[in-house]
Amino acid sequence: MSDLNQLDVFFSVQTFHEDQVRDKTVVISDVLRATSTIVTAIANGAEKVIPVGDMGEASRIAQSVDSDNYLLCGEKDGIKIEGYNLGNSPLEYTSEAIKGKSLIFNTTNGTKAIKKSLGADELVIASFHNLDVVVDFLREKERDIVIVCSGWKGRLSLEDLLLAGNIVYNLKGGVMNPEARDGAKVAFTIYEKFGNDLESVILNSNHASRLKELVMDTQDISYCCQINTTRVLPILKEGIITNRHVEKTQ
Ligand code: MLT
Repeated sequence: MSDLNQLDVFFSVQTFHEDQVRDKTVVISDVLRATSTIVTAIANGAEKVIPVGDMGEASRIAQSVDSDNYLLCGEKDGIKIEGYNLGNSPLEYTSEAIKGKSLIFNTTNGTKAIKKSLGADELVIASFHNLDVVVDFLREKERDIVIVCSGWKGRLSLEDLLLAGNIVYNLKGGVMNPEARDGAKVAFTIYEKFGNDLESVILNSNHASRLKELVMDTQDISYCCQINTTRVLPILKEGIITNRHVEKTQ
């Protein structure tokens, strides 16, 4: 990206207005767990992910698609929604479970961040799993970039900010310019402070504590902290997320 373009970070779904992402390149961060799950699903062969804002929208879409080929997926407040095929643990999204399927995906914050950013020129899904491919994609951009941290019901989630900071740090080559946007500076600084100890910092985050109570183990959290395990780049077009094929860089 050129120095003329702005790079900003928003801290939760509720802290920005739709106009602030319009015509920009938007990156969605929801490390625990929505964007980690979407990246895993696409890497394991899901044909597409259709993000929805609520259960009503999920049911309407389910009625209009091929019933043999879709799965209803997602959570409310971290818990699998009754009657859905899958919850929001990325570990459920094995190729046996989802290969070739269309996933109608409904989560508490992550899919709402996506839906609120539909006016973006381009929208990609980031997790630690596909960090490098997201950074490579953004480096080529000649327009403003916004990283949207999904957070939790309007509050900041440290893990989303750490991923945003990792992306900013890489794009800026480890040097933050004084004219940068405040959001980018905050994310960069948090990553500089905690980035070397990612998993233990995330294990102590608010949403990790919530998940530990709900699922009684930390497997999802450790999994979501794995870095650069895939080169898939889920990208949203006309409301549907599919993989943008990217060649491996040397
Ligand atoms: C969300 O969208 O808020 C999350 O992904 C919640 C979760 O951990 O399931």
